[in-house]
Amino acid sequence: MSGDFLALAQPGVQKLSPYVPGKPVDELARELGIDPARIIKLASNENPMGASPRALRAINDALAELTRYPDGNGFELKQRLSQACGVQPQQVTLGNGSNDILEIVARAYLAPGLNAVFSEHAFAIYPIVTQAVGATAHIARAKNWGHDLPTMLAAIDSNTRVVFIANPNNPTGTWFGPSALADFLAQVPRDVLVVLDEAYIEYAEGAELPDGLDFLSAYPNLLVSRTFSKAYGLASLRVGYALSSPVVADVLNRVRQPFNVNSLALAAACAALDDVDYVAQSRQLNEAGMQQLEEGLGRMGLDWIPSKANFIAVDLGREAASVYEGLLREGVIVRPVGGYGMPDHLRVSIGLPAENSRFLEALSKVLARG
Ligand SMILES: Cc1ncc(COP(=O)(O)O)c(C=O)c1O
Repeated sequence: MSGDFLALAQPGVQKLSPYVPGKPVDELARELGIDPARIIKLASNENPMGASPRALRAINDALAELTRYPDGNGFELKQRLSQACGVQPQQVTLGNGSNDILEIVARAYLAPGLNAVFSEHAFAIYPIVTQAVGATAHIARAKNWGHDLPTMLAAIDSNTRVVFIANPNNPTGTWFGPSALADFLAQVPRDVLVVLDEAYIEYAEGAELPDGLDFLSAYPNLLVSRTFSKAYGLASLRVGYALSSPVVADVLNRVRQPFNVNSLALAAACAALDDVDYVAQSRQLNEAGMQQLEEGLGRMGLDWIPSKANFIAVDLGREAASVYEGLLREGVIVRPVGGYGMPDHLRVSIGLPAENSRFLEALSKVLARG
């Protein structure tokens, strides 16, 4: 007789639903028999520009060492990041994507009997990593789809060890300003780790959003997580990082897998960090694409949540699932966000101008069918 290996899993894990990623192009092509070349994917907040040529060259150069383990300490990338971010190398933790950072934080600081605070409509990985280690989620009500920091503060209790906050947030694109963050940090108990997830921060330059790094020296309980997956265009390589106090970095380093960032990713990330033109272009393309989508949606009489990220949540004013399916049949993949408590919205990543037009045309066609 064999054991019931679902029942034997940790209670939090038994109740988990796996993360649902954006539908891959090849999967849709297989399912509907569509030519993959005719499909566009605006579903995973990826950079539509293609990778930086400098990153591609670095990957090519690194191929010669493929039989070797990567540098487990990521020395070179940590040096570069510490210079770019104005911190000490011992304040940097590297992750296999910033998802890895979020998971390492949960494993290091959460456990049954403890809790993490995050907002309604927050990034799906926060509940997953919290539940996976048997901790409880304290979900604070959102305000106008965004994080309501005073409500999040009120959700903190003596068993709270971590607060997860994304600025801008995914999937809403909402954001808060520097004074809101300053007020929040000043009131959070010093033994609660605030994880400020800045996965999209490069798209939001300007004074409207705080730069989490400005608060690091005053708040040893602050961790800023960032990624090379979005504005740096390296999503497939999986590389992200955390900036924190050296003590928190040391704790995370104890839990981290020894070679969590591979050598191609390390080399490409160093090169991408130097390619400031690429990031500037990503930002420009995104701004223009956001405007294009807002104008197009406005012409259709649709509403959306204003966004400072590289995607926009469109309010269809009705159940979005069938529109999502209709768009798939047009060869356009976007992201349904019913699982985030937003059944009437679809999240659309900003693409190239032609992709944005294709999406708008397909949406108008699908909506016209009723
Ligand atoms: C808010 C937020 N944080 C973190 C991530 C994780 O990204 P990655 O693991 O590719 O760095 C994402 C990805 O979509 C995100 O939206």
